[in-house]
Amino acid sequence: LNPHDVVRALLRERADRAPRERGEAYAPANIALCKYWGKRDAGLNLPITSSLSVSLGDLGARTRIEPLDGPDDRFVLNGREAEPNGSAARRVGAFLDRFRGADGPRYFVESESRIPVGAGLASSASGFAALVKALDRLYGWDLPPESLSILARLGSGSACRSVYDGFVVWEAGERADGMDSLARRMDEEWPDLRIGLHIVSSAPKPVGSREGMNRTVETSLLYRVWPERVAADLPRLRDAIRDRDFEALGATAESNALTMHATMMDARPPILYWKPETVGAMERIRALRAAGVAAYYTIDAGPNVKILYEESSENAIREAFPELQIAIPFAQ
Ligand code: DP6
Repeated sequence: LNPHDVVRALLRERADRAPRERGEAYAPANIALCKYWGKRDAGLNLPITSSLSVSLGDLGARTRIEPLDGPDDRFVLNGREAEPNGSAARRVGAFLDRFRGADGPRYFVESESRIPVGAGLASSASGFAALVKALDRLYGWDLPPESLSILARLGSGSACRSVYDGFVVWEAGERADGMDSLARRMDEEWPDLRIGLHIVSSAPKPVGSREGMNRTVETSLLYRVWPERVAADLPRLRDAIRDRDFEALGATAESNALTMHATMMDARPPILYWKPETVGAMERIRALRAAGVAAYYTIDAGPNVKILYEESSENAIREAFPELQIAIPFAQ
């Protein structure tokens, strides 16, 4: 199956519905505590391993889509019209093509994102998840969340997790068509959990996560142990979430991120996303821990550092990281 066939198989007779005036939806960004790194199918974004994330509450994307007369889509991101042939507009257009075919209707898409774009902060995850939900409303498909998750995955793998709030598990699945590769929400809440976003750089990264993970899978010998690492970390994280064991949660997430980065560094040519400020932040968090503040970090395919802590440590964290943007995954 190619992505267009997957869309057809999920929509079936719904595919003929006429659009309403507009569809609008919100989706949160998400941060993986056990990372998705490596694909078994690049066309469908099927992962080699399962992953587990937490969604970032009101840090995410709100997207509106309307049918448009004319030959071209229009894409407005944070109030700015995207260059029609720029990478953002092309990626959105290619994604929409999977639903409409190459000569289907054109759309006006407007998206507001509260997170820095392209900085390894899962902006594409919330973007594609919000777009799929907005399409679902535009056409009144009323698809179940599992189907929305599969559709969001076709835009960006991690987007399949942004369909939900809270803790989310993306099961890698086994099928070649990916119909069993989708995310589900865990039935757990952790109101005190906080995620601080320490932005080291918002500049576009030199190697995108897509290319980075492909290169890692193809050339890194260390990558061979990654599935084993994930198999050990996932149950640890599930237990930690169930038991509200913050030390276990943080320590496992931090180690998992470091292992992922080790596989990247082992790629040929190697990939190193860290900047001096990244390492500086890692050191500061270690020092906080030595001083008795329970704080851990995770890092995605970029230089920025995401700090995991609980509400009771907020003052100490803010003092060490005054510029922190703070996400509350389970706001009441
Ligand atoms: C390091 O979901 O952006 O953030 O499927 O190619 O679009 P594509 O990749 P993407 O990769 C995310 C990688 C990560 C880890 C994670 O979010 O699990």
